[in-house]
Amino acid sequence: VPLPSRYAVPLPVPPVLKPVRADATTDYYEITARPGLANLVPGRQTEVWGYQGMFPGPTIESRSGRRTIVTHTNELPHPTAVHLHGGHVPHESDGYPLDLISPLGGGSGGAGGNAGMAGMPGMSSATFAPQRQYVYPMQQHAATLWYHDHTMGFTGPHVYRGLAGFHIVRDEDEMALDLPQGARELPLMIADRAFDENGNFAYPALDPSEGRPGVQDAYMNGVLGDVILVNGAPWPVAKVDRARYRLRLLNASNARRYRLELDPQPPGGGALVQVGSDGGLLARPVAHDGIELASAERFDVVVDFARYPAGSSVRLVNRLGSGGTAEVMRFDIGSASVSDGSRVPDQLATVEQLDPAKAVATRTFLFAQSGTSWTINGQEYQPGHSLAAPKLGQIEIWRFITDVHHPIHLHLDPFQVISRNNAAPGEYDAGWKDTVDVLPAQGVEVAVRFSDYAGQFLLHCHNLEHEDMAMMAEFTTE
Ligand code: C2O
Ligand code: CU
Ligand code: CU
Repeated sequence: VPLPSRYAVPLPVPPVLKPVRADATTDYYEITARPGLANLVPGRQTEVWGYQGMFPGPTIESRSGRRTIVTHTNELPHPTAVHLHGGHVPHESDGYPLDLISPLGGGSGGAGGNAGMAGMPGMSSATFAPQRQYVYPMQQHAATLWYHDHTMGFTGPHVYRGLAGFHIVRDEDEMALDLPQGARELPLMIADRAFDENGNFAYPALDPSEGRPGVQDAYMNGVLGDVILVNGAPWPVAKVDRARYRLRLLNASNARRYRLELDPQPPGGGALVQVGSDGGLLARPVAHDGIELASAERFDVVVDFARYPAGSSVRLVNRLGSGGTAEVMRFDIGSASVSDGSRVPDQLATVEQLDPAKAVATRTFLFAQSGTSWTINGQEYQPGHSLAAPKLGQIEIWRFITDVHHPIHLHLDPFQVISRNNAAPGEYDAGWKDTVDVLPAQGVEVAVRFSDYAGQFLLHCHNLEHEDMAMMAEFTTE
C-alpha cells in the first residue's frame, strides 16, 4: 500500500463537543465509541475505532470548578473503559480497567479483526452495562488532559485504533493571561501508526514473520509505526499567521519517544516557549530549542511565527526519528501583516512547591522486565492487590527505577520531579507532571501528595504494550 504523502493534508482540529445540557453546577456530555472511516491513504479507507467514530475524538472543554459528567456508550464489538488522563477523579470514574462498558448488544469479542482483539475469555456481557457515566469534579487548575481507553489488557490495541481525545480545562487565572487563543490555540495529538495492505492500521506494526523470532517480539518493546499522524492526519500542514500560537503538544503514541524541534530554528533559537506541563501552567515560561516527550506527556508551548520571514515554511521535526518518522508536520506562514494581542508574561502562575523534607514516606518502584512480562517490583499487575497505601493529604517521595526506558504515570494527582539520577531534575521535568520520562537505568524521585479521594488507583508504564503486559500496579489512598 502506498504510504500517505507528506505535507499534503491540512491539519485537522478536532471539533469541540457541545454539552447536551448544563445546569448551575454541571455540564453533561454524551460520547459513543464506534467504528468510523478515515481517508488517510490515497484510494483506501482506514477503519478507526473512535469516540463519536472519530480519531481523535471530539475535544471536551471544562471550566475548573464546574463538574463535567460524560455518559459513554460503547458500540464497538469489544468492552471498553474510559480514563481521563490527568483528571483529579474519584475511583468510580477513573476508568479502572475492570469497570468495563460492554458492547451494545452484548457479546464480547466478535468482529475484532486482529490478533490483539480476540474476545476476552470469562467476560459475561450480562454483568456490564453498555453505558457508563463518568463524573469529573474538575477541582483542578487549567491544564491539557486527554481521555483514552484503559481496558484491562487491551489499552494498546484500543488506543492504536483511535480511542483518544483531548479534554482541556480552563480557568479564570489562565484566561486573564492573554496567551494566544481561538484559532491561534492548537491542540496537537502526535501519534505514529503503520498501515496494512488494505489501508487499515497495522497492529502490531512489524510483521513477526519477517525475520523476527516470534509474535511476542512485535509487542514486547511497544508498537511503533512508520507514519506520523497529527490530530489523525499524516504529516499535515497548518497555515498560520505571522503571530504567536499556543501549541498543546500531546504524545499519544503507544510507545514512541520524540525530540521535537522547529526546522529551521528562528534566529536566536528558543523557538518553543514552554508555558505548561502535564498538570497545568508553569510558574515562569521556559524557552527550549527542542522538547523531548514520551508517551502521554503534554507540553504546552507558545511559538512566535513572526520570528520567521513572511511566506516561509517551518517544519516540526523529530530528531529521534529517521526517514518518515523524523518528520511531523509543517507550518506555512502567511505573508500578510496581522495584529497579535497575545503575550507570554514572565509570571504565569503561582505553583506550590511540595517540600520533600515534609515527606512522611519514601517508596521505591522498580520497573523491569521479568521473563516475558513487564513488572513493577517483580510483580505483574493483579487487580485488587495494592502495592502502597498512601495517606490523603500527606507528602510522599516515590522513586522510580528502570531497566529500559519507561514513561511512568500516576493516576489521581500530579507530582513534582525532585531528582534524576541523584542530580537535579531534567530540562523537561518542570511543573506539575503526571507522567515522567525515565530513561534506561535511571532513577527518578518525585514528590507527590494524593488528595480528596480514597480508593484504588493505578501507577503504570505508559508504553501501552508494557502496560498491557502487566507493568501496572495499584495503590490505595486512605
Ligand atoms: Cu493515560 Cu492510566 O493512563
Ligand atoms: Cu491517567
Ligand atoms: Cu515501560
